[in-house]
Amino acid sequence: MDILSSLIFVASILIPCFKFCIAADTILLSQSISDGMTLVSRGETFELGFFSPENSNKRYLGIWYKNIPQTVVWVSNRAINDSSGILTVNSTGNLVLRQHDKVVWYTTSEKQAQNPVAQLLDSGNLVVRDEGEADSEGYLWQSFDYPSDTILPGMKLGLNLRTGIEWRMTSWKNPNDPSPGDFYWGLLLYNYPEFYLMMGTEKFVRVGPWNGLHFSGIPDQKPNPIYAFNYISNKDEKYYTYSLQNAAVISRLVMNQTSSMSIRYVWMENEQYWKVYKSLPKDNCDYYGTCGAYGTCLITGSQICQCLAGFSPKSPQAWNSSDWTQGCTRNQPLNCTNKLNDGFMKVEGVKVPDTTHTWLDETIGLGECRMKCLNNCSCMAYTNSDIRGEGSGCVMWFGDLIDIRQFENDGQDLYIRMDSSELEYSDIVRDQNRGGSEENIDLPLLDLSTIVIATDNFSINNKIGEGGFGPVYKGRLVSGQEIAVKRLSRGSGQGMTEFKNEVKLIAKLQHRNLVKLLGCCVQEQDRMLVYEYMTNRSLDWLIFDDTKSKLLDWPKRFNIICGIARGLLYLHQDSRLRIIHRDLKASNVLLDDQMIPKISDFGIARIFGGEQTEGNTNRVVGTYGYMAPEYAADGIFSVKTDVFSFGILLLEILSGKRNRGFYLENQSANLVTHVSMESVERGQGYRNG
Ligand SMILES: *[C@@H]1O[C@H](CO)[C@@H](O)[C@H](O)[C@H]1NC(C)=O
Ligand SMILES: *[C@@H]1O[C@H](CO)[C@@H](O)[C@H](O)[C@H]1NC(C)=O
Ligand SMILES: *[C@@H]1O[C@H](CO)[C@@H](O)[C@H](O)[C@H]1NC(C)=O
Repeated sequence: MDILSSLIFVASILIPCFKFCIAADTILLSQSISDGMTLVSRGETFELGFFSPENSNKRYLGIWYKNIPQTVVWVSNRAINDSSGILTVNSTGNLVLRQHDKVVWYTTSEKQAQNPVAQLLDSGNLVVRDEGEADSEGYLWQSFDYPSDTILPGMKLGLNLRTGIEWRMTSWKNPNDPSPGDFYWGLLLYNYPEFYLMMGTEKFVRVGPWNGLHFSGIPDQKPNPIYAFNYISNKDEKYYTYSLQNAAVISRLVMNQTSSMSIRYVWMENEQYWKVYKSLPKDNCDYYGTCGAYGTCLITGSQICQCLAGFSPKSPQAWNSSDWTQGCTRNQPLNCTNKLNDGFMKVEGVKVPDTTHTWLDETIGLGECRMKCLNNCSCMAYTNSDIRGEGSGCVMWFGDLIDIRQFENDGQDLYIRMDSSELEYSDIVRDQNRGGSEENIDLPLLDLSTIVIATDNFSINNKIGEGGFGPVYKGRLVSGQEIAVKRLSRGSGQGMTEFKNEVKLIAKLQHRNLVKLLGCCVQEQDRMLVYEYMTNRSLDWLIFDDTKSKLLDWPKRFNIICGIARGLLYLHQDSRLRIIHRDLKASNVLLDDQMIPKISDFGIARIFGGEQTEGNTNRVVGTYGYMAPEYAADGIFSVKTDVFSFGILLLEILSGKRNRGFYLENQSANLVTHVSMESVERGQGYRNG
C-alpha cells in the first residue's frame, strides 16, 4: 500500500463522514450507499459504511460506534477487494450489495413491502422495513438477527424456534479477517438447554443452563450497575439478552478468537479506552470437562480436581500426575435392585453437570423430582431447574455427570444418586426429608402413578381390607416388592394431622414387631400409606374365624402374644420416644409369613415427653371394647390404657372370642367380666416382658 492510499484508507476509517457523508439514517428505494458514504443513526451513536480491518485492504460493509474509534460491531462478512461497493434496497425489500454489477451479498426477507426503506437505528440495528412501519415485529430484515462477534444491548443470543434463526455470536477469524471464525457462543437445545463457548464442534467452555437467576456456570452473574440481563424461554424463542442500566454507560459483549475469550467491555469516556469488565473463561476450572466424569473442579483446591465424595480416581496414576480427564468412579457401584435403598447425596455450591442427557419438568417440585429420579435406575442426579426463591421445577440427569464445578460461596445444589451404604446417616435423614411434601416427613414420597400401577388402579380384586380410615389394597411395585396400601378416605376421621402423625411416628420406629412403613403418597386430597405386605393379614382375620383359627396352635398363639408384648414394650420403654398406641386391637396386629406379629395403625398414637406418664384428651378416640375405663370415661390415657387393651387382646387370642359380642346364657356383659380376675392379672404381667 503506498502512502497516499494508506492516507485515504485511514481517513475512510476514522473520518468517513469527511467528504461524502449523506447526513441521513435511511436509504430509500431510489438511493444507495457507495464506499466513502455512510449512514448515521439519528442520535449519532452508530454509523454504517465500508471499512477495512487493521492490516487488510479489503473493504467490508459494517456498523461501528460513531464516536468511538475503530470499534466495529457488525459486518456483512463478504469482502470487496476495491472501493466499488454499493449498497441498495431493492423493491422487494432486500438489501443488495454490489461490486461493479456483481451481487456480492444480499438479504432475504419473507415479507413483502410496498415501499421498503433501510434504516440504521440508535441501537446499532440496521433494519429494512416498510416506510411508515415502526413496529419491530414488522421488520422485513434486521442486522440484530445476524450477530457478528458482538452482542449489543437489545440483541438476542439463542434460538428462534419459529423461524429457525439462530442468534449466534461468532468471532472473527482474526483481527484482519471479519469472516466467521471457529469460536462462537451458542445455545445447545437439550431438554434443559444450555449455552456454550464452542470451538468448532468442540465444547470449550460450558456456560451452563439458565437457573432462573443466572447461568449455572456463572454464579457471579449478578445484578450490577452496568447492565441488566435476562433469559427468555417460551415455545417460540429461547434467548439471552441484556440492556444497559444507564444511557451514559456504553458496554458490549465480544467473542475474540485470538484470545479465545468472550469479553464484556465498558467504554471509559475520560480515558478513551474499552475496559475489560468480565471475561470467560476466567480460570482453568471453566474449561470443559477438566476433571472428567464425577470429578469436581475447585479453583482454590491444592489440586483443582477432586472426586466427589464416594468416588475415586478411575486411574489413580493419571490422576496423581494431574491428568484428570478420565474422571472418577463409584466406590460402591449402584445395583438398583431395590430402588428404595438408593439415596441421594446433596452437593452444595456447584455448577450443574453437562445437560446433554437430561429430562425437564417445570411443573413439579423437588420432592416429586427425587421420587421420579429414585424410580429410574438410570437417573444419576436431580435438582430444581429454577433456583429462585424456594426453588421449583425438576431436572434429572442420565448417564455420567460431567463438568461439575465447585464454587466457594456461590453455586447451586445438586442431588447425586448413591448406594445407601455410601451415605452418612445424616445424609439419609436429610435426603428422606426432602422426599416429604412440606414438613419433615422422614420417608420416601411415592408417586401416585407408582401406586396406581402397583395396585392395578386400586382394583377391587386387590382390596384386602377396610379399616376405620379407609380401604387397604395389596399391590406389587415394579421391583417385585409386595406392598399394602392404606388409602385414607377423604371423608375419614383421619385428617392431615393424623396422617402426618402416623407417618412421622412410624418412620422413627424400627422394631421387628412393628409394621414397617415403606413410603407415603400425598397428592392433593389423596393420602396413602405404603407398608410392607403381610402375607397372613391381621390377627382378627385368623383368630375369630373357626377354620383359620385352627392353624393357630398354642405355641403359635404364645409366640404371637410375646411378639405383641415386645412391640408394646418397645413403644412404651425401649424406643427413644414413649409412645401410647391408644388403639391396640386384633385388627391392628398384622402377621407376616412367619406369623410374626406386627403392631400397626399409629394414626391416633401419642408421644410422651421424657417424664410424662399420663395424658388427657377431650377427643376420646379408639375402639370400644378395648378402651380402659378411665380412658373411655375421662379421656385419660397412659401406658396403662395400652396395657388394658393388650389384656383384652390376650383374652381374645386365648379364647378365640371377641370381647364385644361375647354373650352367654349367664348374661356376662363381655369377655372381661366372664374371665376370672386372676387371668386378667396374668395378662397384664406381660407388660414387664
Ligand atoms: C431483490 O434482491 C434479491 C436478492 O438479490 C432478489 O432475489 C430479488 O429478486 C430482487 N428483487 C427485485 C425486484 O429485483
Ligand atoms: C482480540 O484479542 C486480540 C489479542 O488480545 C486483540 O488484539 C484484538 O483487538 C481483539 N479483538 C477484538 C475484536 O476485541
Ligand atoms: C428412565 O428414564 C429414561 C430417560 O427419560 C427413559 O428413557 C427410560 O425409559 C426410563 N426408565 C424407566 C424404567 O422408566
